[in-house]
Amino acid sequence: MDILQYPDPRLRAPNAPIVEFTPELAKISAAMFEAMYRTDGVGLAGPQVGINLKLLVFNPGGDSASSETEVVLCNPKIVSRSRETESGEEGCLSFPEINAQVVRPITSIVEAQDIEGNGITLELEGWASRIFQHEYDHLDGILFIDRMSSPDKTRIRPILNELIAEFRVDLAGTSRN
Ligand code: CO
Repeated sequence: MDILQYPDPRLRAPNAPIVEFTPELAKISAAMFEAMYRTDGVGLAGPQVGINLKLLVFNPGGDSASSETEVVLCNPKIVSRSRETESGEEGCLSFPEINAQVVRPITSIVEAQDIEGNGITLELEGWASRIFQHEYDHLDGILFIDRMSSPDKTRIRPILNELIAEFRVDLAGTSRN
């Protein structure tokens, strides 16, 4: 399972609600964890692997040794968020070599379904809440570059331009095959 990089249009495409909780869906989420650990990530959303469904996985522990903190969420909805916010550093597997501060609410309460379709409610705070909100944004087609400060956007512009150029080259390569 490959992780798509910006500016792949699938990162901005609409993501459909999950209606069937099949064994295939469980396989997809397992493959997402594998891809995430392989690339030293802590979270991954369906659209990042070309699956435009409301599906995300994360693990604040960040490695397969801490599988007890793995979370899979289907059709997540944010019920409430703290008014209090904090700034923290984020990266994104779809944007290699970019890190920047993003301001987000500190806590979030989430309703979702697990991989079998059972309803679950999570109260998240700190690092876990930040990761969740980053991945949740992906399900709305929102990327962390959309939430950066203007100075950071200016700073990373050359890297974005490189990614855009590489994507065009890849596209050209694909169309020749
Ligand atoms: Co991301």
